[in-house]
Formats: sequence, structure tokens, C-alpha cells
Amino acid sequence: MAELGDAITRDYAGETVIMVGVLKGSAFFLADLARSVHIDCTFDFVAVSSYKKGSRSTSGAVKLLKDLDEPIEGKHVIIVEDILDTGITLGYLRKIFLQHKPKSLKIAACLDKPARRVEPIEADYVGFSIPNQFVIGYGMDYAEKFRNLPDICILPPDFPA
Ligand code: PRP
Repeated sequence: MAELGDAITRDYAGETVIMVGVLKGSAFFLADLARSVHIDCTFDFVAVSSYKKGSRSTSGAVKLLKDLDEPIEGKHVIIVEDILDTGITLGYLRKIFLQHKPKSLKIAACLDKPARRVEPIEADYVGFSIPNQFVIGYGMDYAEKFRNLPDICILPPDFPA
């Protein structure tokens, strides 16, 4: 976390950044990352429809359930995600955020699962690159459960649905 925070602090020295958390999974990561970043920053949050809720697989389109509260035009924006998986969510968010003409737009992801990528998208700041295993805890859920586990854990493949 300190390394990610240092990189962001360096890259945005003297600037103000809006950190945009994608609900709900990013809550813990945003809270920790923001405390490791030593620049002026504000928070905003978006929520998107969870096209894979209650399952481990991905299909379908993304819909915006909660938009930004503040305008991002001319501002430095970092989208903060718990996990970059297929890239469908971040691909969608990047597209709509760019329409608002931010001064810059970057992505910070706690975890990256490159093997699962469908959309050609990469994060600018990545905590850990991980293999294709289903992870829970530290904000991440399985059917809304386990978000409160303090550590990131692997959900066994035979865990009952
Ligand atoms: C997770 C995660 C990302 C998205 C990444 O959210 O928080 O938003 O999936 O997956 P993708 O790269 O395949 O689009 P989820 O839909 O589980 O909702 P949550 O944040 O409320 O847990």
C-alpha cells in the first residue's frame, strides 16, 4: 500500500486528485490507499449494476446506478477498484468518464486478474497481479458475503452456491 501511495504522491505532486471509488468492493482499498497518498485529494463514488452478482462468472452489460456527485471536467481523476477482472466495468467507466473531459484519468486496482481480461484495459497502479481464482474479503464478496474479512482469501471452487 505504501508503494502505491508513494507512486501516486510522486505522480501528482502539487496537484489535487479526485479518487473515485466503485461501490461496493473498493471501500477498504480506497480507505487504505487514500491514507497512503500525501497530496490534496477528494473522494467521490459511483455504483454500477452488478452483472455477475451471486455468481463467479461474467456476462452482460454494465449500467450506472449511482453517478458522480461532483463534476470531473478539468480535474485529475483516479478510479479506485478492488479488482480488475474482465475489464468490462472499468472499460465502461473509463468511456463515460472521458466524456466529461477530466484533465487526466488513471486507474488504481488492488488486484489484477489479467488471465480473465475481455476488454483491453490496464490499471496504472496495481497492488497485486493474481491468478484466476475467486477472491473474497477486504471488501470483496461472494453473493454479498465475506466483504468484512480483513484479509484477501481464496474461495474454494467447491464452496456451495
Ligand atoms: C467487482 C469489482 C469490480 C468488477 C470487476 O464488482 O468490484 O467492480 O467486479 O469485474 P470486471 O473487470 O469483470 O468488470 P461486483 O460486480 O462484484 O460488485 P461489488 O463491487 O459491489 O462487489
